[in-house]
Amino acid sequence: KKGNYDHFMQKEIHEQPHSLTTTMRGRLKDGAVLLGGLKEHLKTIRRSRRVVFIGCGTSYNAALAARTFVEELTGIPVTMEVASDLLDRQGPIYREDTAVFVSQSGETADTLLALDYALENGALCVGITNTVGSTLSRRTHCGIHINAGCEIGVASTKAYTSQIVVMAMMALAIGSDQISTQARREAIISGLFSLPSNASQVLKLDSEMKELASSLIDSESLLVFGRGYNYATALEGALKVKEVALMHSEGMFAGEMKHGPLALVDENLPIIVIATRDACFSKQQSVIQQLLSRKGRLIIMCSKGDASAVNPRGSCRVIEVPKVADCLQPVINIIPLQLLAYHLTVLRGFDVDQPRNLAKSVTTQ
Ligand code: UD1
Ligand code: BG6
Ligand code: NA
Repeated sequence: KKGNYDHFMQKEIHEQPHSLTTTMRGRLKDGAVLLGGLKEHLKTIRRSRRVVFIGCGTSYNAALAARTFVEELTGIPVTMEVASDLLDRQGPIYREDTAVFVSQSGETADTLLALDYALENGALCVGITNTVGSTLSRRTHCGIHINAGCEIGVASTKAYTSQIVVMAMMALAIGSDQISTQARREAIISGLFSLPSNASQVLKLDSEMKELASSLIDSESLLVFGRGYNYATALEGALKVKEVALMHSEGMFAGEMKHGPLALVDENLPIIVIATRDACFSKQQSVIQQLLSRKGRLIIMCSKGDASAVNPRGSCRVIEVPKVADCLQPVINIIPLQLLAYHLTVLRGFDVDQPRNLAKSVTTQ
């Protein structure tokens, strides 16, 4: 079932123009968002005091990517919970909360235990899952199936991008009663329509990412700096490299660079800086300057046409990606990093679809 591909992870990365299309199918009509699974609960969600996102691994990162636009479009504060940490702390969950559980499989033990806990505390519990009939889908009050198609590779790829798109549609639906954000919502909806073709465009970087991977094959570590909408991209890119390529990698807040990570910078440690166009662009330009003045070995991801704006001395490797609506940019930016992790794994000779010590679905605590 891998078709022309060598591995499921590779197939699933390249499937994204299609999986993004099926995620949106039937849900965007005449400039409005229709989510059958949420329709009857939108009023309750709008009245909630807080949205709490809960998940593990890549699903947590997808929720983190969505956090900013959910706050922006709904006006409701969003807090983030790693499922196991919520349980460890027995953190506060209230009746006035909307708890949103994100899980590809819908069977992750920590996430399901956090769901039991939130149900006991009286929160409205919403599921976002790829698996119809899963425990998460059955036990939540309501939710949205991401409809990305079956994902087999242990490292989640197409489910990540579809989860972000579902959360964007969810934010649009919750915020649809707000007049002040109407133009913004329309811009995001047209951005959603353009995602599949932009995903096809960015997949053309495949051979460039393979070449980049071959230059990193012997590195011991890889840092990824992001901020704003793309902090989650940094975490998720690093998670992909860790889990499949078995290379140490950390995603970090670029804004925290001076508070520790800068000490690591030298001419050997590869650092990916995500500097695509958004409100944080000029801040990322100065991060790049500071890293270069410490002789940092940089790989810069920027919007198409911005190569000279981010790399004035021409000394860095640049990855140019198509520009989409700022809050949807994480959907595009993760794709080159998925390709990089994939090629790095193959070149290092490790098992892509079944990484050492990991399981697709962790059903024990
Ligand atoms: C539904 C149908 C879809 C059909 C469409 C036509 C299913 C699974 N989906 O899609 O085949 O084409 O109507 O209008 O039959 N839910 C949860 N928790 C979750 C996820 C979902 O409780 O984690 C619930 C939803 O609240 C909803 C139901 O499951 O009641 C189906 O959700 P979803 O598939 O997202 O709904 P539609 O997109 O309307
Ligand atoms: C496991 C997988 O750790 O569970 C990850 O290896 C995944 O890829 C995580 O992100 C969470 O899984 P799910 O199914 O709850 O999204
Ligand atoms: Na349900």
